[in-house]
Amino acid sequence: MSAPDPLRVCLLTGGGDAPGLNAVVRAFVHAAGRRSILVLGSRYGFEGLVGDEGVVPLRREDVAGILPRGGSLLGCSTHSNPFSVADGAAATQDVTSRLLRRMDELAIHALVLAGGDGTMAIGMRLGAIGVRCVGIPKTIDGDLGGTEATCGIDTAVQSATNAIDALHATAEAHQRVLIVEVMGRHAGWIALRAGIAGGADVVLVPEIPYDATRVVTKIRERDRLGRRFSIVVVGEGARPAGGATSEVEPARPGQPARLGGAGERLAAELRALGLPHEARVTVLGHLQRGGSPTAADRLLATRFGTRAAELCARGQWGRMVCLRAGMVESIPIEEACRAEARLSAAHELLACARDVGIELGAP
Ligand code: F6P
Repeated sequence: MSAPDPLRVCLLTGGGDAPGLNAVVRAFVHAAGRRSILVLGSRYGFEGLVGDEGVVPLRREDVAGILPRGGSLLGCSTHSNPFSVADGAAATQDVTSRLLRRMDELAIHALVLAGGDGTMAIGMRLGAIGVRCVGIPKTIDGDLGGTEATCGIDTAVQSATNAIDALHATAEAHQRVLIVEVMGRHAGWIALRAGIAGGADVVLVPEIPYDATRVVTKIRERDRLGRRFSIVVVGEGARPAGGATSEVEPARPGQPARLGGAGERLAAELRALGLPHEARVTVLGHLQRGGSPTAADRLLATRFGTRAAELCARGQWGRMVCLRAGMVESIPIEEACRAEARLSAAHELLACARDVGIELGAP
């Protein structure tokens, strides 16, 4: 009797990149190799499987030295959803039949998807048409459900905290109000965590529509105490009470809206309210996605990557690795897709922020 064919899986890094993705790839390849699983990598998300970017072998020698590197060895793509590939300005095309054919040609038994909410939603739909998938959560936004942590957010928070530290000195020297716009889409995790860690005076998160007069009151209070400068952290998805999220590009078929401009809008609102300081805006942008991952992100990525290989070896398809009570476990991918992780009004981080005097823009 001949030995069964070894399991062949294809790994991809979907959506926007996040620090720690290379650590995920490395860990998965090592742990898969120890379980005699052959690993391929799809370049630029699903693009390698449904487009022209190609699929490459991933062996231990291919992942040597990538642990501390940002970005992704495989490349990422935010527009390679096989259920909805852009086909002209207004239409999208379902190319899952192409994906299935390619998997067949390459004798790929299963897909391992490192990604955020968009990628997990694809994984869930692929599961429904019979594709075996395992998910690994990554996103700097921290908005994926079902897990206490995702790869990348710790590094993003560290980068934002470093920026706030640097801005403090110059804000004080010029008695300015410096507004720092951070990423996070519709979740305030980066803003709140970096705001607390960096000692910001005001933090505005998307989950709490703000009243700009409270921000001015806080700044005036600081003036009275002789602290004639302030640091205001604003999440890109933050909006004034009764107002809308600030977008630089509206949503298109298969593409969410691109957020931006929340910081400049706030500066204009503060000026209109007679702020007695110069207000300037720093948009951290993709600096939060670049750079070497922190030790915490490397460790989480390595734990997630190795556990994902274990799920493959055991044939536990349709599951996403996750962190629960500090331990790596796994849940059905559907569970991660059920609801985005947002700050609830009762979250202890909000109470913590208020207790150290941070103004949140609402009572
Ligand atoms: O989801 C990660 C993220 O960096 C968000 O915080 C941000 O809104 C978005 O991606 C930016 O995406 P892009 O680089 O495609 O403009």
